[in-house]
Amino acid sequence: MNKKLNTTQYILQGGVWWYANCGFSHRSSVSFGQERSSKSAPTTCTNRYLKARCGYAHRPSGQGIILRYEVIKMDDYKNFAQDYEALNPKEEIILQRDFFSQIIEKYNVKTCLDCACGLGWHLYMINNLGVKSCGSDISPEMIDICKDNLRGTNIELRIEDYCKLSETWERKFDMILCVSSALNHMLEDEDIIRALDSMYERLEENGIVVMFSGISDLLARSRPKLIPARTYQDEAIYHIIEYFDDRVVFNILDVKKTKDSFTHSLNSMTLSLLTKARFERCLSRTKFANVNIFGDFDFSMYSEDKSNRLFAILQK
Ligand SMILES: C[S@@+](CC[C@H](N)C(=O)[O-])C[C@H]1O[C@@H](n2cnc3c(N)ncnc32)[C@H](O)[C@@H]1O
Repeated sequence: MNKKLNTTQYILQGGVWWYANCGFSHRSSVSFGQERSSKSAPTTCTNRYLKARCGYAHRPSGQGIILRYEVIKMDDYKNFAQDYEALNPKEEIILQRDFFSQIIEKYNVKTCLDCACGLGWHLYMINNLGVKSCGSDISPEMIDICKDNLRGTNIELRIEDYCKLSETWERKFDMILCVSSALNHMLEDEDIIRALDSMYERLEENGIVVMFSGISDLLARSRPKLIPARTYQDEAIYHIIEYFDDRVVFNILDVKKTKDSFTHSLNSMTLSLLTKARFERCLSRTKFANVNIFGDFDFSMYSEDKSNRLFAILQK
C-alpha cells in the first residue's frame, strides 16, 4: 500500500484531523507524512507570499502527523479588500499630507512608487503634491479597487510582489513607499531583507524608502488582546490579536448594524512583529547608506515604550 492510501485510511479510521491555516516557510522541512506535535501548528511559519494548509491527525501519543501539505498563494486580502476602506479610510490617509510634503521637499522627490499601494490613497495624495506616481500591490483584489479609486489620474498600476520589483518596474524612483504595516507581511528576517533589497534596487541614487508600521515594540510589550480599531455609527472593526514569538495573528472582526440585527465578517492574517531591534538587525544586512528611525508623523524620537508606530526613512 502506498503512502497516500495509508494516509487516507488513517483518516477513514477516525483520526481526528483538521486543516490548520498556518503557513510554512518554503525553507521549512515539513513534508508529507512528517511527525509533528500538533501544538506547533499555529506557530509554524509562513513565507512572504505563500501559505500552506496542512492536515493533521492526532495519535493517542498526542503527536500529529501531517497528512496533507498544500502550498497556496497569499490571499490575505482576497475577501478583506472590500472591507479595507473602513479600516484605513481615505480621510485618515489624507491627514498624512503634511508629513509627506515635508519629505518630498527635503529629499527633492520627483517620482514615487508605492509598492504595497492597497486602495491607492497615498498615491492619490502624493500625485496631487506634484510627484509622478506609480503603484503596485500583490493583491489583485486591492488593485481592482485601487484602479476605481484612481480613475481619471495618470497613475500607472501593476500587480507585483514587492520582493521582485525589478521584474515589473524597469524605471527607478526617488521615493518608494511601503507603509501602514505592509512590510509586516514578511514573516522571516530573510524575507524582510529580500523585500528591502528589492526596493533598494529600484531607487535612484540618494533615493529613499519610507515605511511605517504599527506592529512594533509597543504592541509586543503591551500585548493587547482586543483593539477597537474603528467605530462608526453603524459599523465597528475590532482587532483580536494572538501573540507568538516574532509574529502576531490579527483577527479582524467587522460588525455591521442591519435594520434589526448585526452582520459579522472575520478575516485573519499573520504579520511579523517588527521591533526596532529586529528591523535594525535586518537593515544591517542591506546596503542602505542612511537610516533614520523615528516615532511619529512629526518626526519625533522613537520610543519602544510609547510610540504607536515605528517610522523609517532609508536612503540609498
Ligand atoms: C495593510 S495594507 C496597506 C495598504 C496601503 N499601503 C495603505 O496604507 O492603506 C498592506 C498591503 O500590502 C500588500 N502586500 C502584502 N504583501 C505584499 C507583497 N509581497 N508585495 C506587494 N504588496 C504586498 C497587501 O496586498 C495590502 O494591500
